[in-house]
Amino acid sequence: MYVCVCRAVTENEVHDCIAAGATSARQVRDTTGAGSDCASCVRKICAMLKRSEDLIPTA
Ligand code: FES
Repeated sequence: MYVCVCRAVTENEVHDCIAAGATSARQVRDTTGAGSDCASCVRKICAMLKRSEDLIPTA
């Protein structure tokens, strides 16, 4: 499923990018291009980043 329609970036590509160490929507954009056009996908990318942060144990 596409997260970014403008740049045809899929959810898997964003997940891979986060798994590779991206911690901000800007880093995801620089790597995948997602969010570099209309930017309507940025909120979705931020939510994915937040979810991944929540999965990382802090203790
Ligand atoms: S949907 Fe991602 S830049 Fe437009």
